[in-house]
Amino acid sequence: MKIAIINGPNLNLLGKRETNIYGSLSFQEFLDELKNKYPEVSFTYFQSNVEGELIDKLQKVGYAYDGIILNAAAYTHTSVGIADAVKAIEIPVIEVHISNTYSREEIRHQSYIAPNAKGIIIGFGLQSYELALQSFLINK
Ligand code: DQA
Repeated sequence: MKIAIINGPNLNLLGKRETNIYGSLSFQEFLDELKNKYPEVSFTYFQSNVEGELIDKLQKVGYAYDGIILNAAAYTHTSVGIADAVKAIEIPVIEVHISNTYSREEIRHQSYIAPNAKGIIIGFGLQSYELALQSFLINK
C-alpha cells in the first residue's frame, strides 16, 4: 500500500513549536517510528510552507497512491485552492490534526478540506496520523 503524508505550514517545526500543544517529537522521529511499525506500507512524506507546492504535491500523488494523510495546518482554515485539489484528485484523503482544533480559537473551527475528505481525525497528537493510516489498512 502506497500512502502519502502531506504536511502544511509550520509543521516542519514540530518538536520545537508550541510544544505544549504539538508535543516535543519531531515529525521525522515520528515518521521513522511509523515506518518501522508498518514495514508493509510504502510511505512518501512531503512538507511545505507554500500553498501552491502543497497543491502540486496533491495533484502528483493524487492519481498514483492509495491514500493521502493530509494535515494542511493553517491552510485548512483558509485555502479554497487546497480544498479544490482534494476534490479534484481520485484517491481518498484523510484530514488530520494534532491538536483538537475545536477546543481552540474559532478561526480553527472551519475546515475547507473536511467536506471532501474521506474522514477527519483530530486531536490525538501525532497518533492522529497513525489512526488515519490504520483506517486505510483496515479498508484496503
Ligand atoms: C494543526 C491545527 C491548525 O489550526 C494549525 O494552524 C496548525 C496545526 C494541527 O495539527 O493541530 O498548524 O493543523
